Amino acid sequence: MPSPHGSTVALDAALATVNAWLSRVRGALARAPNRCRGAGSSSPHGEVASSRPESAVGSGCANVLPNPLNTLRPGYPVLVQVHVITMFPEFFGSPLDASLVGKAIERGLLDVALVDLREMGRGVHRQLDDAPFGGGAGMVMMAQPLIEALAPLESTHRVLLSPAGAQLTQATLDRWAAGGPLTLICGRYEGVDQRVIDHHIDEEVSLGDYVLLGGEVGALAIIEGVVRLLPGVVGNPESTLTESFRDGLLEEPQYTRPAEFDGLPVPEVLLSGDHAKIARWRLEQRRERTRERRPDLWRDYAAEQDGPDAR
Ligand SMILES: C[S@@+](CC[C@H](N)C(=O)[O-])C[C@H]1O[C@@H](n2cnc3c(N)ncnc32)[C@H](O)[C@@H]1O
Repeated sequence: MPSPHGSTVALDAALATVNAWLSRVRGALARAPNRCRGAGSSSPHGEVASSRPESAVGSGCANVLPNPLNTLRPGYPVLVQVHVITMFPEFFGSPLDASLVGKAIERGLLDVALVDLREMGRGVHRQLDDAPFGGGAGMVMMAQPLIEALAPLESTHRVLLSPAGAQLTQATLDRWAAGGPLTLICGRYEGVDQRVIDHHIDEEVSLGDYVLLGGEVGALAIIEGVVRLLPGVVGNPESTLTESFRDGLLEEPQYTRPAEFDGLPVPEVLLSGDHAKIARWRLEQRRERTRERRPDLWRDYAAEQDGPDAR
């Protein structure tokens, strides 16, 4: 029976190639003149904390070099650079340290610069909010501190987390992963003065039809979603091309060893070794799941297939 874990030898070889190439890029960046300013000590804010280790990518201009090794997604950058404007930088400590995100930072594939909005606050109390014009419940984030925080980041793609934004999708993450540096603005209170949104934000994005306390969870979701698309972050980059939403369908059910657990066997076809049969079964499962669980996705998929059995 073929291993469900794939060939680790091939994976190791691929990772070694990626790492060797990354070392060459880092060397070249360290020698190159500093054409653009990254995060950390060279940040336009001065006060931001950068996730990037000093030595990781030299002083080069991150996120502008396409990665020639990324044959799956030509044109994707060497690393993703993200600025996060937040009242709670401490929120990001463990999530940026842990798991593959932490590893991506360590390896210089991801750089996250946290901009502490409180430092732009007014007066001794570093006030960031004020009462809404016209009355009503809650407070609104004032324009001036946000505009100050955004001023040095004009050239980045500025995204506001907001329940009123377009829903975050895989397509959005694909676009951002392939684009230039991102700035994620985390709202709090009742939200942000509309004049900031109208004149200093490129895009508003929502996690879904519910209201959270702030935009920080959304910023972390975006960072994870974007960074996992970069080559070398997940073990097998192909897995990011064959998962839910890639072709408009949800992923099929997954099973691993043992073949029988607690009296429950895995579907027999998966043990057959017949790859064509397995592929047919998987597609059928994906279609069935999507039809049952996500009529919205199914409608679009069926329209694209334009076949009688897709309806
Ligand atoms: C309490 S919410 C404000 C909700 C706002 N008064 C409304 O009714 O739409 C505070 C902040 O949390 C963030 N937030 C809350 N829910 C969100 C969601 N579903 N998607 C993205 N950001 C969200 C936004 O940054 C928002 O400005």
